Amino acid sequence: MEVVIATPEELAALAADAIQSLLAVKPGAVLGLATGSSPLGIYDELARRYAAGQVSFARARGFMLDEYVGLAADHPERYRNVIEHEIASRVDFAPDAVQGPDGLADDLVAACARYEAAIVEAGGVDLQILGIGSDGHVGFNEPGSSLASRTRIKTLTEQTRTDNARFFDGDIDQVPRHCLTQGLATIMSARHIVLIATGRAKAEAIHHLVEGSVSALWPATILQHHPHVSVLLDPAAASRLQLADYFRSTYAAKPAWQGL
Ligand code: GLP
Repeated sequence: MEVVIATPEELAALAADAIQSLLAVKPGAVLGLATGSSPLGIYDELARRYAAGQVSFARARGFMLDEYVGLAADHPERYRNVIEHEIASRVDFAPDAVQGPDGLADDLVAACARYEAAIVEAGGVDLQILGIGSDGHVGFNEPGSSLASRTRIKTLTEQTRTDNARFFDGDIDQVPRHCLTQGLATIMSARHIVLIATGRAKAEAIHHLVEGSVSALWPATILQHHPHVSVLLDPAAASRLQLADYFRSTYAAKPAWQGL
């Protein structure tokens, strides 16, 4: 696990560098796309680079992490629409190149199985962008999630619904109770995971992710078992790390040729 502590702008540029380099050697790469506010700087940077002709997504595919159950097809907070708005429509993904779990399916269990199969059929995710919830969830794998889980239906915690109420007029009652999410084992199948977190509200979850014991209580800790994880933090998100000075000096001494 590599931990980088820098400004949000520097972090977005680093993640965009990793995606740009990947697409340069593998134009048909499969990208894992996250929602939430954390990746927005990365998406802005990718859209800027696309407009400048530096990167193309024309042959790439995208798989979303999660989706609310039951939000209407045209609801602005339906994650499929959020991803379309924040990144897919701003670059040159082919139509239908970005997929998400179908939170409107009649048979949600079958929809989850289909989604797992589609990821495998695409060759697996090359680079997964991840945020983290203040309770340590990744995707919507809430505390208590099986560390071996695959895409399935989950019930959101009160904490997550409170956190996400800001996207629903501040009204927790408008936040769906259920979601479909890639499981922790699904996320762990990605070849490179780039997790970005900013702000003090994430500091405790980040402390557990980087320095805690692996436990379903803090689901992101499973990433300690992944061979290639880049954790991108601003100083506030890194503020509870015991090893922060070590991570800063390691990154300062990193050879320039070595990307994330
Ligand atoms: C949401 C999403 C996650 C996201 C997390 C943090 O509920 N399902 O994918 O990483 O919560 O969101 P934010 O980046 O807005 O803090």
